Amino acid sequence: MCGIVGYIGAQQAQPILLDSLHRLEYRGYDSAGIAVVGDTLQVEKCAGKVSALEAKHPHFSGTWGIGHTRWATHGPPTDSNAHPFLDATGQFALIHNGIIENYQGLRQELVTAGVPLTSQTDSEVLVQLIARADKGDTLAAVRSVLNRVEGSYGIVVIHRGRQELVAARNQSPLVIGLSTGEQFVASDIPAMLRYTNEMVYLQDGQLARLTPSSVEISDLAGASVPLRSETITWNAEDAERGGYEHFMLKEIFEQPKAILETMLERVPDLDLGLETVRLPRRIRLVACGTAFHAAMLGKVLMEQIAGIPSEAILASEFTFSGAVGEPGLVIAISQSGETLDTLSAVREARRRGAQVVAVCNVMGSTLTRETEHVLMTRAGPEIGVAATKTFTSQLVALYLLAAYLGRRNRHLEAEQVSRLVAELRRLPRLVQGVLDNHQAIQMTAEWIASAKDAFFIGRQFNYPTALEGALKLKEISYIHAEGYAAGELKHGPIALFGKDTPVIAIVPKDETYAKMINAIRESGARGTPVIAIATEGDQEVAQVADIVIRIPESEPRLSPVLATVALQLLSYYVAKYRGCEIDKPRNLAKSVTVE
Ligand code: F6R
Repeated sequence: MCGIVGYIGAQQAQPILLDSLHRLEYRGYDSAGIAVVGDTLQVEKCAGKVSALEAKHPHFSGTWGIGHTRWATHGPPTDSNAHPFLDATGQFALIHNGIIENYQGLRQELVTAGVPLTSQTDSEVLVQLIARADKGDTLAAVRSVLNRVEGSYGIVVIHRGRQELVAARNQSPLVIGLSTGEQFVASDIPAMLRYTNEMVYLQDGQLARLTPSSVEISDLAGASVPLRSETITWNAEDAERGGYEHFMLKEIFEQPKAILETMLERVPDLDLGLETVRLPRRIRLVACGTAFHAAMLGKVLMEQIAGIPSEAILASEFTFSGAVGEPGLVIAISQSGETLDTLSAVREARRRGAQVVAVCNVMGSTLTRETEHVLMTRAGPEIGVAATKTFTSQLVALYLLAAYLGRRNRHLEAEQVSRLVAELRRLPRLVQGVLDNHQAIQMTAEWIASAKDAFFIGRQFNYPTALEGALKLKEISYIHAEGYAAGELKHGPIALFGKDTPVIAIVPKDETYAKMINAIRESGARGTPVIAIATEGDQEVAQVADIVIRIPESEPRLSPVLATVALQLLSYYVAKYRGCEIDKPRNLAKSVTVE
């Protein structure tokens, strides 16, 4: 995700800003930049790493400034889209994390007023508006603009003639580091730990004015807020993981935010920027690994919600499939956008005339550069090798895409689309409900930790969930696990069932329920311990399963997201119990760039 740093004090700002940016590199980013106030407001920025920025040899003299690493969401990673942004008169510089939801309207207002814009980002709009609102008080100008802004932001603003940093936060973290005669601000604590461990967490809707000798906090209405600082006792490595023991756990817990950001600006209107996609008669979804499980659910969604016959094809098998030569639409799903099997499938499909929509988490990756249509997931960088938040964000992108195509295809009534979208908007809260249950899931992990084999079963929407649950468990705990459509048990796998082969059954209250209960009974009859992932309030399931992990009630098509989060936690705790190296499982790479 994007990183923010700021410094004001008596030392030279540039080396501190660059050092702090390096300390945020673990988060992943695609561009970097700094602005320092000396005799003038000096800015250097570029696409690429902080080292690429340093290679430009900025020599900025000045004792206050800001720095940024960007993870592209609006506009590709280019020099002009990198932060900081200057306003048209060169008085103000701004850095921004987050997404401004109503930026189209604000941008239009600036265009109409004749303000020249230099980037494709939502962030630049903020600095232009602040400059236009300014009457000599940066804090007041920032406050008046933020009162018109919808969306998430962590921002820091500087003015070339005022010795202060002005920061503000809404749903995007910002922390102030206090010291004597100097102050720091950053999106993440590790950026500042070398300089101070006295931190103030800015809250949503709060603004701060930092000078070398003071920090004042106020809210959007202008009321002042008392300063409360905390002393951080973590070391830098703990801090990178935000206090979580592993990146995987941190990323599992980031899912409400990742899902929310993937929907921001796009709901309720299903504004996906895909107007030029021609309505296909047939869809093929291609992907690998976890992303393929998203493709499998995507197939069902495209057929049910969009009314378009669809097929999910493993990217590595695509060129051998009979469907390779068909025109129509290919949806390529990839977290990294660099998986060679997926890229090869896309290249072949394009060569044969198909249109391609990429669902991808890394803007500027090969996949996003090589496809004409892109629907970004906005999960932020994923550092744990096992995919977690990017998978559920892919599912959300596919719900949106299916609803969008369904509306265009007139397969859904407007009313049905609105109902689905309304349910989707509840999803971050429902996912939080699953996360809040993590202790119960942790206790269940002990049941599986000594098993050699485990079986995951589900039906319909949750057949892909079963496959994903099994993949997650085997990847990080090294327990052999298989996922099955529950109806398949009696056709073979049940021969293996016994007291040492736990079965994890996904049993939401939907039309598959009765058959899932039968599958659990069949398993239980072989002495198999059964763990059910079931809907809150369902009493019946407790009579047939040994343990029940509860997920909130949801629209049936959305239950895979909730069940997946529970299964991610289960795998995580099993792996932890077994002492595995969770973030870097053996033999696996985060991005597979060989065929
Ligand atoms: C599993 C996992 C892999 C990836 C697969 C595709 O946890 O991460 O199975 O899903 O290698 O990677 P992307 O999505 O980057 O194309």
